[in-house]
Amino acid sequence: MATYTSRNPARFDDVVTEVPLATSAEVLAACESAHSAQPGWAAVPAPARGRVIAQVGRLFEANKESLSRLVTREMGKVYAEALGDVQEVIDTCDFFLGEGRRLYGQTIPSEMPDKQLFTFRVPVGTAMIITAGNFPAAVPSWYIVPALVTGNTVVWKPAEQTAAIAHAMAEIFYAGGVPRDVLKVVVADGPATYDGLEAALQAKLVQKVGFTGSTEVGRRLSELAGRHLQSPCLELGGKNPMVVMPDADIDLVVEGALFAGFGTAGQRCTSLGTLWVHRDIYDAVRERYVHAVERAVIGDPFEAVLYGPMIDEKYLTTHEKHLGLIQDHQSVYGSTGVGRITAHNPRAGFIGDPDAGWFAHPTIVDGVRPGDALYDTETFGPLVTMGVFDTLDEAIELANGHGYGLSSAIYTSDPKSVWRFREGISAGMMSVNNSTSGAEAHLPFGGNGLSGNGSRQSGIWVLDQFTRWQSMNWDYSGKLQKAQMDVAELPYDPGFRL
Ligand code: UN1
Repeated sequence: MATYTSRNPARFDDVVTEVPLATSAEVLAACESAHSAQPGWAAVPAPARGRVIAQVGRLFEANKESLSRLVTREMGKVYAEALGDVQEVIDTCDFFLGEGRRLYGQTIPSEMPDKQLFTFRVPVGTAMIITAGNFPAAVPSWYIVPALVTGNTVVWKPAEQTAAIAHAMAEIFYAGGVPRDVLKVVVADGPATYDGLEAALQAKLVQKVGFTGSTEVGRRLSELAGRHLQSPCLELGGKNPMVVMPDADIDLVVEGALFAGFGTAGQRCTSLGTLWVHRDIYDAVRERYVHAVERAVIGDPFEAVLYGPMIDEKYLTTHEKHLGLIQDHQSVYGSTGVGRITAHNPRAGFIGDPDAGWFAHPTIVDGVRPGDALYDTETFGPLVTMGVFDTLDEAIELANGHGYGLSSAIYTSDPKSVWRFREGISAGMMSVNNSTSGAEAHLPFGGNGLSGNGSRQSGIWVLDQFTRWQSMNWDYSGKLQKAQMDVAELPYDPGFRL
């Protein structure tokens, strides 16, 4: 039996857990159980399902510190961010616990007498949710919580790098009252997941696919779901631009770009891609940004550092591959080295033992322009590119030109620039004078173009992912009334003029 060993990425001799990897047949079997459990779960009155979500939320709150410690230990984000990751689960439960008492439908007048129209939200069925390791708690909850409250059952395939977190979370859901067959967790590699899902779709066991991860995998899953006439809920990559106008507060820009670019070691879907700065202040912004990045403390994620290790070796290797895309006309800033931080390639001020984990130097690549590989490659690591612009329209074009459209930001004190940017930017999310990352849990989260198919998570908007509208015509006239034909028309005078 194949197993996966999940290690602490800051100290990889610390084995967090060893889990069996499910085969495609086991993935299929999980879908079968969840599918069989679905009618029973849907029959639980929605307010009672909402109560379960309330109980789950309380248990996440009661276990916040211990789960956050596990998040830092297994995934490597700094403890303050791990607390935020878990807080986002609590916020999501807080938002959806009341949905059990709403799940509103509508009453709509009919065009005929003695007839009434209604709409109902009905659960889609069973959802297979596949999530990434970078937000091991928050992002899965964005799917699982609304899916459960609306009466669906869920098979969750977390990233293997965060298997212990996933199992701990599942136990919290069960302790909160979610039956075990209503939420199944399977840890599997990519091929077993794909094959198991394909078989489950074929057998009509899965009615919704949710996926957070790369554009490439999202495309494959979307094709697979599309063959079964399903539209998946996708949250894919980003190349999130930050546009800095000449009237921006530079202190704020530096603080925002430091967090957006290097928080979570640049491994958020919403992490800053390119910092586009107006020519008039370009040198000033670069100088201060470089200074801030050079001084940032990196290392042990349980200490007061800007960021800790990469999620695992694979992420570090991909980051190093991206460093190979740096071209001669570009300049590199930000650290005492590039690539992996080691005793031989040290980072000034590093806290901890760099050789014990997968740590990477922060890297700023200056002088990026369209046509460069780094212009349109999502880098997902501690690498921020910088480029110059002369007009806001040019900045918007640069910010859209790579085809990703997840998050974005503008720094300015001019409302006219804000509105022009909002109108022109293709991203699903935009911030004004704030980081590209750090979206609140009750706003629509999602992207366009290479970042997704337009599906949105969170808040009321995700309800359309996990429910379908059913309309009902109720005729109590005692005769067949034909729509569009047996419709009362009141006389009027078309020639009337004052
Ligand atoms: C992600 O990286 O997939 O907006 C999610 C943010 C977080 C969630 C990121 N609240 O940065």
